[in-house]
Amino acid sequence: MHSTLLLPVWAFVSYIIYLIASSVLTSRHHRRRAHELHCADPPRVRTADPIGIINIRAMLKADKESRMPQYLCERYEASCEREGKRLGTFCQNILGSWSVFTTEPENIKAILASQFKEFGLGDTRNNNFAPLLGHGIFSTDGKGWEHSRTLLRPQFAREQVSDLDLEERHVQNLLRNLPVQSDGWTEVTDLKTLFFRLTIDSASEFLFGESLDSQISHFPDYKTNRMPMKVSEKEFGIAFDGAQGGIAKAARFGDMYWMAHDKQLKKHCETCHTFIDHYVQLALSKDKASLRSDPKNGQYVFLDAVAETTRDPVELRQHLLSIMVAGRDTTASLLSIMFLLLTKNPHIYAQLRSVVLETFGTFDNPKNITFSSLKNCTYLQWCMNETLRLYPQVPINSRRALVDTTLPTGGGPSGTSPIYIRKGQQCDYSVFVMQRRKDLWGPDADEWKPERWDGRKSGWEFLPFNGGPRICIGQQFALTEAGYVAVRLMQKFGEIQAAPGDDSWGVDKNGAIDGKLKVWVTLTGSPADGVRVRMKGATE
Ligand code: HEM
Ligand SMILES: *[C@@H]1O[C@H](CO)[C@@H](O)[C@H](O)[C@H]1NC(C)=O
Ligand SMILES: *[C@@H]1O[C@H](CO)[C@@H](O)[C@H](O)[C@H]1NC(C)=O
Ligand SMILES: *[C@@H]1O[C@H](CO)[C@@H](O)[C@H](O)[C@H]1NC(C)=O
Repeated sequence: MHSTLLLPVWAFVSYIIYLIASSVLTSRHHRRRAHELHCADPPRVRTADPIGIINIRAMLKADKESRMPQYLCERYEASCEREGKRLGTFCQNILGSWSVFTTEPENIKAILASQFKEFGLGDTRNNNFAPLLGHGIFSTDGKGWEHSRTLLRPQFAREQVSDLDLEERHVQNLLRNLPVQSDGWTEVTDLKTLFFRLTIDSASEFLFGESLDSQISHFPDYKTNRMPMKVSEKEFGIAFDGAQGGIAKAARFGDMYWMAHDKQLKKHCETCHTFIDHYVQLALSKDKASLRSDPKNGQYVFLDAVAETTRDPVELRQHLLSIMVAGRDTTASLLSIMFLLLTKNPHIYAQLRSVVLETFGTFDNPKNITFSSLKNCTYLQWCMNETLRLYPQVPINSRRALVDTTLPTGGGPSGTSPIYIRKGQQCDYSVFVMQRRKDLWGPDADEWKPERWDGRKSGWEFLPFNGGPRICIGQQFALTEAGYVAVRLMQKFGEIQAAPGDDSWGVDKNGAIDGKLKVWVTLTGSPADGVRVRMKGATE
């Protein structure tokens, strides 16, 4: 009796001894390798608790207060300084595992480009995103990612991304919501709401061949021949935001992301899927021949093009949703923040506007607004780059080591030794923090100064669209769309003013944002309190 009871106890004790011994041996092995490779540890952020709950609590609090990126900057400012130089890399404890946090261009370049094969998104991120996005381009590594990338990339060729007639229709719809009153000004309006509707309308037309018309469906004269849907465009919008928010929150828990996957997230994802599946079924009901011969008046439709290469409805759904996540909020947020910064910097609005009028004519007599002339308009590009520098839409990102490897810098007393990275270790990087580093951008790094781009060659210290093989495939699409919308609005409106009394954030005397601007971050960031302004109709 006794001996049969003892057996499992003995087995259990041996197992624990085995675990401890193997962990000691592994640690020794890693220490030896690190030594051979001349690696040294980066500084560790110490927390009072052994498993770093304090770190998670601080991040969730920053999320709640819409100041996650600022929180990251503060933590960077509080990090070690060695020999007069702030260290751009440190280690932090997230639920018992040590992850690296870096803002060092050289390390980010290694993670994204020169050592691309050694780092991946990792199973944690991929599985965290899966309820909404399946294993599409944003949530796969290796072969699966290569497949999606090869399939999607050609859809972003220059011809497809420069359909400015499509964009013009949506700008006209935006303007219907911004009528100029008899006093020459519009009413106070939240531009962020308008930009989010604009980009969902143009993205849906590009993706499905049919706009969701969220900008105009509330007008009494609105007619549509769209088929009735099980899920309305409004319900989809709410569920889409909710699902992204849920996933972003879960991501703060690292490997324990599944703890935050609740019923509500599941419901939001189902709503999104039902909505998208309507379009997938529509595309699949057309046969291949008609897909090719019957694009609506020669218009390019993303879904039809992709449906020529795959007939798998789940795959089509995940491509559509991935592109929507990638493309809608990012461009809308870039526009929102740029107009917010222009509102706070009236002299730059005036200067950009005069360049716009000179280059592209007036609102009623526009000339030559094309893909290449937008790209060619230097001051406009400076303003967009400078916005992407101070408020990158993906402020924080991360990768996992797929093998035992090293990062080139950040370790040891001088902060310049390579760092040893174990297989599976998480490496977080923040371009938000990097793009504000004073040692990289000068003492005026916090200021919005388009002129700083004059003659500046950007390298790995400027990464709003990421770099390396996984660089954003929508970069040209986004810059063309945002540039076009900005040009048309500036032609239309001679002046822009913040809503009276709406001054919870501001600029200091140098034009620097005072740090109080709330940035709401789910998977991407945008101004939390919107962009409430009024605009004055142009007199030209
Ligand atoms: C201002 C606008 C935009 C910004 C700042 C931006 C930024 C980024 C960033 C930082 C990534 C890397 C994400 C990662 O690897 O973790 C990314 C990837 C991606 N972006 Fe964008 N993006 C923008 C607009 C767009 C648009 C309009 C589209 C498409 C319509 C798009 C499609 C994609 C896709 C498909 C990927 C995944 C690429 C891959 O993993 O191979 N993006 N973007
Ligand atoms: C557009 O630009 C081309 C060359 O860049 C020029 O020949 C043409 O006159 C321009 N059109 C207008 C309407 O200004
Ligand atoms: C771009 O700008 C240059 C000089 O600023 C000009 O010569 C050229 O014609 C422009 N190209 C387009 C397509 O507008
Ligand atoms: C804006 O940044 C991009 C890098 O993303 C760079 O290629 C481009 O030259 C910059 N534009 C200007 C006008 O400096």
